[in-house]
Amino acid sequence: MSENTLLSIQNIHTHYGRIPMLIGVSLEVRKGNVCCVLGANGAGKSTLVKAMLGMVNCDSGSIRLEDEDITNAPTHKRIANGIQVVSAATGTFPKMTVQTNLRLGAYNIKDVKLLNERLEEIYESFPVLKDRLQQKAGTLSGGERTMIAIARAVINKPRLLIMDEPSLGLAPIMVEEVFKVVKRLNQKENMTIMLVEQNAIKALSVSHFGYVIQKGQIIFEGDHDALMRSEFMENPIM
Ligand SMILES: Nc1ncnc2c1ncn2[C@@H]1O[C@H](COP(=O)(O)OP(=O)(O)OP(=O)(O)O)[C@@H](O)[C@H]1O
Ligand SMILES: [Mg+2]
Repeated sequence: MSENTLLSIQNIHTHYGRIPMLIGVSLEVRKGNVCCVLGANGAGKSTLVKAMLGMVNCDSGSIRLEDEDITNAPTHKRIANGIQVVSAATGTFPKMTVQTNLRLGAYNIKDVKLLNERLEEIYESFPVLKDRLQQKAGTLSGGERTMIAIARAVINKPRLLIMDEPSLGLAPIMVEEVFKVVKRLNQKENMTIMLVEQNAIKALSVSHFGYVIQKGQIIFEGDHDALMRSEFMENPIM
């Protein structure tokens, strides 16, 4: 494994009941890169995310986060190791204010001064949230709630931020906004991001490297330019 590799997945297999789902999936995410995993509905994208989080068991193969083998580590240990995820399932606490939602994301930060610094950084990066700190999260628009979910993950300065279809169900203008945030986190904060998407064109526009998954198998991998030239870019949405 090269010293530039943050996450390395080698030949993992998973199943649901008797049905194999991920079939020999291998991939790498390099430090400081945005890496996308593109695939249609049911291709196995969220299963891959769950395997990375330890929410789906691997029958074989390995998952390493830098020099640590996390293949069998419990989810909480992976989070403590610096993996954060944003997905449709992440949700928000609708009856709590935006500010409380953000603080809950930062429950691991015990130092009050550090917490306040991080909150200030978040307000800078997500001005839309700063204007609504005392508003209940459930009264925000879908796009604004997505921003809470992203901010809540980012406040922990993760080593690896995994985003499972962050743009799903959002209006086009908010989709733009989400991808701008991805780009900014990567460029300004050097955050390493794995972006799991059906929206291939949008995802690739902010990615250095990408994989295409189909029926639980990686069928193509390449850098931004190679993917751009590939047949997979003929349809913007997979
Ligand atoms: N808990 C489960 N039990 C049985 N089958 C499952 C389970 N979770 C997912 N599947 C099946 O596994 C396949 C892959 O699901 P997965 O959620 O990984 O797809 P996806 O690529 O994330 O799709 P989408 O773009 O719709 O989110 C689907 O056919 C799905 O029905
Ligand atoms: Mg999914």
